[in-house]
Amino acid sequence: MTSNAILFTDQVVVVVGASNGIGRAAASLIASRGAKVVIADMNPEGLAELALELKLPANQIHVLDVSNQNGVSAFIATIIKEHGRIDALVNSAGIVGQSNVKIEDLDWSTFEKTIQVNLYGAIWLTQQIIPHMKKQAYGRIVHLASIAGKEGNPGMASYNTSKAGLIGFVKGAAKELAHDGVIINALAPAVISTPMNSNTSEETLKYMISRIPLGRTGQASEVAEIIAFMASPACSFTTGFTFDISGGRATY
Ligand SMILES: NC(=O)c1ccc[n+]([C@@H]2O[C@H](COP(=O)([O-])OP(=O)(O)OC[C@H]3O[C@@H](n4cnc5c(N)ncnc54)[C@H](O)[C@@H]3O)[C@@H](O)[C@H]2O)c1
Repeated sequence: MTSNAILFTDQVVVVVGASNGIGRAAASLIASRGAKVVIADMNPEGLAELALELKLPANQIHVLDVSNQNGVSAFIATIIKEHGRIDALVNSAGIVGQSNVKIEDLDWSTFEKTIQVNLYGAIWLTQQIIPHMKKQAYGRIVHLASIAGKEGNPGMASYNTSKAGLIGFVKGAAKELAHDGVIINALAPAVISTPMNSNTSEETLKYMISRIPLGRTGQASEVAEIIAFMASPACSFTTGFTFDISGGRATY
């Protein structure tokens, strides 16, 4: 028997960072499983392409910079006003920050920006969304962390720090929300072939692939499958966890 729990019938699912890569693949897959998807990103061109592909009306498309706290509050308020509920959030917005740079050579404003986007953005989205999920006594929150947050990649201090912070945030949030019907988890991919890696130095990429037993990068469509599970009713007895999608690099 096929379980309906992987479907999103009558659900509103918000996908942030939907213009490219993993977020885009996740939005498409989740829409194909029945959700009304609301897509957001700071890149309007990517949003427009995806909206066309999924035939989305204007009130399901939002230009958003997650590093702007007021913008995040207004974004969530607008979705509630327009659609009445949010059943799941998939937050895939992220930036690499500086790579292949030694700690003593870090540029501080770039470091702070990476934390603002990858960590504060995730926290602000969660803060704004949980009162609505609590009211519904149902919600699923998925944040994209990284293997970098579990193991640390050399030369990527700001990214490592932001993703390790996110993993810690998710652990605590899950315990706070455990009796409210709200399940929150993170996902830690190793290297996935997306536009994000186009600026990662050759040396860093080679190092990362050399650590993956399956010997290749992952595809966004592979990551979308696990995200769709994590955002669905089927993910009902795992919370505060960081799921792995690393081609065997992390076995914990
Ligand atoms: N690709 C990988 O190898 C990999 C590995 C581990 C973790 N991740 C994480 O997965 C997530 C998605 O990565 P991806 O590979 O799809 O990258 P990507 O660059 O293809 O997509 C990220 C999206 O986030 C958007 N974004 C960036 N800053 C934003 C902001 N301030 N506000 C709103 N949107 C913003 C970008 O416009 C882009 O569409 C990120 O959090 C990333 O750190 C990726």
